[in-house]
Amino acid sequence: MVLNLVKMITMANMLSMFILMEVVAGGFRFGVDGLRMDYYIMSCPFAESIVKNTVNRALQDDPTLAAALVRMHFHDCFIEGCDGSILIDSTKDNTAEKDSPGNLSLRGYEVIDDAKEQLEDQCPGIVSCADIVAMAARDAIFWSEGPVYDIPKGRKDGRRSKIEDTINLPFPTFNTSELISAFGKRGFTAQEMVALSGAHTLGVARCSSFKNRLSNADANLDSEFAKTLSKTCSAGDNAEQPFDATQNTFDNFYFNALIRKSGVLFSDQVLYTTPRTRNIVYGYAMNQAMFFFDFQQAMVKMGKVDVKEGSNGEVRQNCRKIN
Ligand code: HEM
Ligand SMILES: *[C@@H]1O[C@H](CO)[C@@H](O)[C@H](O)[C@H]1NC(C)=O
Ligand SMILES: *[C@@H]1O[C@H](CO)[C@@H](O)[C@H](O)[C@H]1NC(C)=O
Repeated sequence: MVLNLVKMITMANMLSMFILMEVVAGGFRFGVDGLRMDYYIMSCPFAESIVKNTVNRALQDDPTLAAALVRMHFHDCFIEGCDGSILIDSTKDNTAEKDSPGNLSLRGYEVIDDAKEQLEDQCPGIVSCADIVAMAARDAIFWSEGPVYDIPKGRKDGRRSKIEDTINLPFPTFNTSELISAFGKRGFTAQEMVALSGAHTLGVARCSSFKNRLSNADANLDSEFAKTLSKTCSAGDNAEQPFDATQNTFDNFYFNALIRKSGVLFSDQVLYTTPRTRNIVYGYAMNQAMFFFDFQQAMVKMGKVDVKEGSNGEVRQNCRKIN
């Protein structure tokens, strides 16, 4: 009897502790960044499905847009936070992020516009462009057979988009320490940086992004693959080289290519040549499920970088223009 009472009290204590922990954890997740999985459940219940259907339709016509949408989310988040700043068009008085050389080959803006138009019809002024970009990237990854995951929503759109901010993007000439430091500045570990680089399982790079590797002998570049790259470049600076053998499928072939010294960018190959990150690459090459798991976690985290809340942002009417 007494024992039971003690047990009950302990249980009650534990329960209240759990509740306390929930509140603390909840406060951190939802209070600080203000994002919620069910953010649009009342205000725009079909937001997720509208974006998904729009992305699916676009990718059926052009599967290479999957890579573009994933990269768009990355560029959005790394400059000024995930606030849709990448979507802003330049004006007479302002040269926007998208017109920097770093924008090279960013595409897919019309997919975001298409989704936005439908959302404005259904629930005007509710769904931010930043959230559309984040959802579109997630849906593109799923469409390409990558991991499926839920993302929190509630990002506000920013009011700044300046060409000079794009200096904060990592360059393809970065070595591992520079990559670790660039991602570290935004709160990512080396492991998360490697996992996120795995997005290069989708898409292509242009010759201009890697041709500097071809001018001198590089012990970390497979000689046969060097010939492939040279051949691509013989068609000019804009000629496209797929990152791996399956450019529209989200898999771990990218990491296997690095092991074969067949990484396209210098910043890809260094992940395998330097001891600091070599084992992570090796692990992902051997175990796709582990890559998928780490990638989705890192993507959710990337989607929270410097998110704007409340009056720090707005919900743009047109993703290309500040209200
Ligand atoms: C680690 C540092 C990174 C560097 C230095 C880098 C650099 C680049 C470069 C130079 C290109 C090719 C652009 C071109 O020549 O057209 C590219 C393409 C791409 N990047 Fe990255 N990137 C990095 C990380 C990321 C991350 C974190 C993501 C997404 C989570 C990402 C997603 C993509 C995708 C999907 C493409 C292909 C785009 C297409 O085919 O249209 N990259 N990246
Ligand atoms: C990217 O920037 C260049 C200038 O560096 C510009 O000519 C081009 O139109 C821009 N691309 C897009 C898609 O905005
Ligand atoms: C990486 O690049 C930076 C800047 O160019 C340089 O200072 C550093 O020594 C390089 N690190 C390695 C390991 O090569």
